[in-house]
Amino acid sequence: MDKLVVRGGVPLQGSLTVSGSKNTALPLMAAALLAEGTTTLQNIPNLKDIATFSNVLRVSGAVVNAQPSTHTLSIDSSRIEYPEAPYELVKKMRASFYMLGALIGRCGQARVSLPGGCAWGPRPVDLHLKGMEAFGASIDLDEGYVVAQTPSAGLPGGIYRLEPSSVGATINLALAATTARGGSRIENAAIEPDVVVFCEALQAMGAKIEGIGTRTLEFEGVEALQPISFRNCPDRIELGTFMIAAAIAGEPGQPVRLNNAEPAHLGQAFIDAFQQTGTGLTVGTDYVQVTAPETLRPVSIETEIYPGFPTDLQAQWTVLLSQANGPATITDTIYGDRFAHIPELGRMGMFAKVSGNQVTVEGNQQLQGANVMSTDLRASVSLVLAGLVAKGETHVLRIYHLDRGYERLEDKLSNAGLYVRREQYDEFATPETEMA
Ligand code: EPZ
Repeated sequence: MDKLVVRGGVPLQGSLTVSGSKNTALPLMAAALLAEGTTTLQNIPNLKDIATFSNVLRVSGAVVNAQPSTHTLSIDSSRIEYPEAPYELVKKMRASFYMLGALIGRCGQARVSLPGGCAWGPRPVDLHLKGMEAFGASIDLDEGYVVAQTPSAGLPGGIYRLEPSSVGATINLALAATTARGGSRIENAAIEPDVVVFCEALQAMGAKIEGIGTRTLEFEGVEALQPISFRNCPDRIELGTFMIAAAIAGEPGQPVRLNNAEPAHLGQAFIDAFQQTGTGLTVGTDYVQVTAPETLRPVSIETEIYPGFPTDLQAQWTVLLSQANGPATITDTIYGDRFAHIPELGRMGMFAKVSGNQVTVEGNQQLQGANVMSTDLRASVSLVLAGLVAKGETHVLRIYHLDRGYERLEDKLSNAGLYVRREQYDEFATPETEMA
């Protein structure tokens, strides 16, 4: 099994490059299933989640070819003969559930495993299922699978209001609505950049969609979509992660440049909070420049749906707060229990107290290097960030979680002057066996 060995106290210098967005690439891959022929996607990150979803698409009959060296993925959906997404794959990655909308949209039927929960708690899909029924699909549950069927004449289409707004449900319902027989409307739709770029791709494929970027999406069903060549957007969560790394590990007064970025996708709340810490920020068209301050100011945040502060950056923000010159709080209004990283950070000496959906983080903390365990994707990267500022060496274990969402992180950070090495280890070795 792999771990990352991180040595603290080494300054981050020079530049980092942001990869393509994981959470946009996945719905783009699902959209490719809607069109007969070969869709080519550029700027696709080389991640485990992309490989997992490629295998899910292959099960249905798609021919998927990845070119990692050029970050390109081609998906030939000429023959989709098996409208299924099996448990063995869906359990690995929740976004596989997008196969429900894609297979309904392409085949008029689907048998998709229900996704489980995740490291930090339940991840319901009730909105996905109720929305599909509102659009005229029949939905049954059979031994952990969702079995969807549309009338022989095709999905009628309908109206559904999401409460709460949901990224995944918006994407799944859009996949089904594009080729429905009639019109459809999604109210209180998500407007995260992932959803906006995905809808722009559907439009390029021939879908008839009004209201992209607003909370009301109107669809007029079309007979079929056409395959396209489309470039994925940069990963806003990786960008935010690197900005936090530069703020805590950069040399005060020395700018760090983050390339291939799409700063607008961060949302104003994150940009405002980041600037309130006193960190220097220059925003370009496809890059940002971050200059660490002598002292970081504590800034309390509350996560919210876009353009609010992203929940996917709250674990990383925790580490920034530990280095600021005073206490502050983080409140997660999206996932009330997304704090599995706090006990692991505690092993590094972090004083942070969780109460309900809020964590209070003390400032001015000198963290200590330690062996720490990844529990989920964003928790694992917060442990790496903590290792950058800790005294001594930190071994971040089970980084298969990290590899789901960050491409070659150790190479990127090492190329910016940091000491981050990938090493193998035996998860079950005990000190005696190691010495023997
Ligand atoms: C997407 O998950 C992202 N994943 C998550 O990123 C991200 O944390 C989340 O959006 C919120 O921004 C992908 O894009 C692959 P939601 P998703 O449906 O679609 C509730 C990462 O680290 N809800 O917008 O599953 C839900 O419980 C991942 O890259 C229902 O109640 O999120 C939550 O409280 C982790 N019923 C809220 O909505 C439903 O049917 C938002 O969830 C669906 C969701």
